[in-house]
Amino acid sequence: MSGVGLGLITGTGGAVPADARLIDQRAVDTPYGRPAAELLLLEWQGCQLWYLPRHGAKHSLAPHRINYRANLSALQQQGVTNIIALGAVGGIHGELLTPGALLVPDQLIDYTWGRESTLLDGADQPLEHVDFTEPFDRALRHSILAGAEQAGLACRDGGVIGVTQGPRLETAAEIIRFRRDGCDAVGMTTMPEAILARELGISYAVLSVVVNAAAGLGSVPITEEFEQRTAAAVAGAMQVLSSTFSIFKNL
Ligand code: HPA
Repeated sequence: MSGVGLGLITGTGGAVPADARLIDQRAVDTPYGRPAAELLLLEWQGCQLWYLPRHGAKHSLAPHRINYRANLSALQQQGVTNIIALGAVGGIHGELLTPGALLVPDQLIDYTWGRESTLLDGADQPLEHVDFTEPFDRALRHSILAGAEQAGLACRDGGVIGVTQGPRLETAAEIIRFRRDGCDAVGMTTMPEAILARELGISYAVLSVVVNAAAGLGSVPITEEFEQRTAAAVAGAMQVLSSTFSIFKNL
């Protein structure tokens, strides 16, 4: 897998892995505009991968302002066919209420609105109704879970991620509703990222990292938990990804 177009998208708290080597750096343009940042070609754990921070190099783009179409299209232009995405979430259930908990979701519910969420709407490309029954790629999901096992970190296999508009956090009543809907965690960026990857024929899976208990479920104010726990939580997730990519090297 090391030579077959790997991509890594990071979110809140994410950064270029400290032990990665920069090989190339490209300012890319796409039919949908510019991506959030220059794309970096990295060598990490013996793999080459294209890296993109979805909120921009300075983490300045709110979830609803990200040009997801440009981000995904730019990665595809570089030959990326497999994307692993990292996303910070609020936990709704069980062990996912604790910051640092990890989840590889197998389903999602999209609560976002007003985002450019398709390439296949008949404007630039023919209208298509894409199968999204399984929103995440099974093989990539299992690779992440294998990475977690190798890293010795607990990681929940499967769950439903609710994707909200943001950038505000939710009300307690909204979280009760999401829980009733079957959500295990809530984040802001998995949609339309996941569907655009599917439309482009790119395999895509997410590692969700809990940085706070969702609104109304924690024992401390949410932003306090978020500020104090994000760095350590994301460090754990990066350890998992490091192991995941080291597994890819041998495929
Ligand atoms: N809600 C939505 N998105 C998030 C949260 C949350 O509580 N924490 C991190 N991303």
